[in-house]
Amino acid sequence: CDRQPIIAIDGPAGAGKSTVARQVATELGLVYLDSGAMYRAITWLVLQKGIAIDDECAIAELANQCKIQLIPSEDLQSPVRVWINDIDVTQAIRSIEVTSNVSAIAAQNAVRQALVEQQHSWGKKGGLVAEGRDIGTHVFPDAELKIFLTASVSERARRRQQDFNKQGQPEVSLEQLERDIAERDWKDSTRKVSPLQKAADAIEVKTDGLNVSEVTAQIVNHYQQRLSQW
Ligand code: CDP
Ligand code: CDP
Repeated sequence: CDRQPIIAIDGPAGAGKSTVARQVATELGLVYLDSGAMYRAITWLVLQKGIAIDDECAIAELANQCKIQLIPSEDLQSPVRVWINDIDVTQAIRSIEVTSNVSAIAAQNAVRQALVEQQHSWGKKGGLVAEGRDIGTHVFPDAELKIFLTASVSERARRRQQDFNKQGQPEVSLEQLERDIAERDWKDSTRKVSPLQKAADAIEVKTDGLNVSEVTAQIVNHYQQRLSQW
């Protein structure tokens, strides 16, 4: 088949997936796909419409009808702008309210089916660095390179706190962030449909003590090694 290569990056919240995937895509001239932003956008819409989080029928209908767009932008803070039904929700989908509800909505089968279908259509020609929870196991199981990024809960909470400080958001304690991250890890990895799991053929990259450039360099290196084997 003449599809371009796909790099799948999965892992828990705060492991560095978005930052690193973006940088890998830039270095290799590939397109970056943030699948988490799609689950966040649906969650934002559900909350905005006042639909109950457990109303699976109404949410399924919404997921099947909505239009999600991920549009590259020049803004370094938000290099991809996220739109749902022609509303720019780039900032709104990062709110605490969306973050604390997204795992419940992402666990719903119909939501996953609708979004995975969209991801498949974007990935048809390849040339992608896609990141999320189920990219290597479920969305693109034939990806040429699969990376499973991890870091300890305390390291991930520390990173999130730094992000909040940089964005001028209200102070959240490290203990609270650790609890939130551990809870989301648990929900994402124990759900029935497409749980967060390391694919059998994924390379695990532990990022404690490594900066973004070091992790990016490791992944680019793995990619080049794979390329030389094809
Ligand atoms: O950036 P962060 O790791 O906080 O989360 P995200 O990648 O924006 O994903 C938000 C949530 O969407 C995750 O906690 C998962 O519940 C869900 N998600 C998923 O189920 N499958 C994906 N491929 C991506 C995200
Ligand atoms: O997408 P995910 O939730 O996995 O993580 P992220 O949003 O890309 O990264 C969370 C924060 O950790 C960002 O501010 C990154 O710059 C930072 N980070 C880091 O300090 N060291 C790394 N090796 C990776 C990310």
